[in-house]
Amino acid sequence: MILITGGAGYIGSHCVIEFLKNNLDVVVFDNFSKGHSKIIDKIKSKYDINFFKGDLRNKNDIDLIFRKYDIEAVVHFAGFSEVSASTVQPKMFYENNVLGTLNLLNSMVENKVLNIIFSSSAAVYGEAKYVPMDENHQLMPKNPYGKTKLIIENILDDYEIAYNLKSVKLRYFNVIGANYKENIGEWHDIETHLVPNILKSSLIDDYVFNIFGDDYETKDGTCIRDYVDVQDLVHAHYLAYKYLIKSNKSDIFNLGSGKEYSVKDVYNCVCKVLGYKIPFKINARRKGDPAILIADSSKARKVLNWSNETSLIESISNAYEWEKILKTF
Ligand code: UFG
Repeated sequence: MILITGGAGYIGSHCVIEFLKNNLDVVVFDNFSKGHSKIIDKIKSKYDINFFKGDLRNKNDIDLIFRKYDIEAVVHFAGFSEVSASTVQPKMFYENNVLGTLNLLNSMVENKVLNIIFSSSAAVYGEAKYVPMDENHQLMPKNPYGKTKLIIENILDDYEIAYNLKSVKLRYFNVIGANYKENIGEWHDIETHLVPNILKSSLIDDYVFNIFGDDYETKDGTCIRDYVDVQDLVHAHYLAYKYLIKSNKSDIFNLGSGKEYSVKDVYNCVCKVLGYKIPFKINARRKGDPAILIADSSKARKVLNWSNETSLIESISNAYEWEKILKTF
């Protein structure tokens, strides 16, 4: 049995489907603070999963899971992820991400469950010193969100030395797309991400798409990012799980496409999918946005045998189909 924390959230729910499709039994743990019960209902209508509503900040909640199920490995997504919210509410981020993870890890160690796949982030790197960025790039997170991810990575290293807890840490770049055929996709109550924001401006009246800054030192003045498809990304989690079980070795992998797109490139691609130009406004730079982030994911390709084949236009088309479904929820 695989425990997936945060399995009602965006990436977590896609991972649940990926593991189920690979014939693994899954128990999902989520408090619905960011995830959605409707997503679990959709999954349950088609697949056999165990679901437990609980909060990692209450250690008793997670202890129950390890007592009830024979867990082979944990895939840990639960946590807050909005960069700008972390700068104004760091307390919430440290409590939820760091304390919540500590409870999870302590419960794992007490119950002798010693394999974890951890959802980390490119936010641990901070400003790029060089691109593409490999796993040896310096770690200088620019915001509390990135700091919580780095603190957890460090805790995992210490828990390996002391308690033999093995971990695969996966550092995601910009995750986009959706598995709309399974009725799942990106669903944040307050949307801050680029692709859903452009799509929403085409589907929702008075929803304005803003470009945050067109005066960066990039080819067209807008920020450059590495967009990786969510279905490719969760496949890497399955490969990481197999790697961990087989090799019993801890490791760290970047997960990105290695391709660079500016905000305007993404906007143009969305317009191509829609078949028409949507209006936008140029706004001030968003606080804490690095100008450029590009992944070197060659290690994941080599060691995990990972490949990411979904193109930007395919990911955006899937996200568009999902946005239309979401409107009906
Ligand atoms: N952007 C806009 N308008 C919008 C939304 C975003 O111009 O409405 C721009 C941002 O300024 C940025 C780019 O589009 O330049 C991408 O922004 P996102 O919010 O989609 O993603 P981020 O790069 O800010 O953050 C993402 C994840 C983080 C993770 C980070 C690591 O959301 O959790 O990638 O690279 F830490």
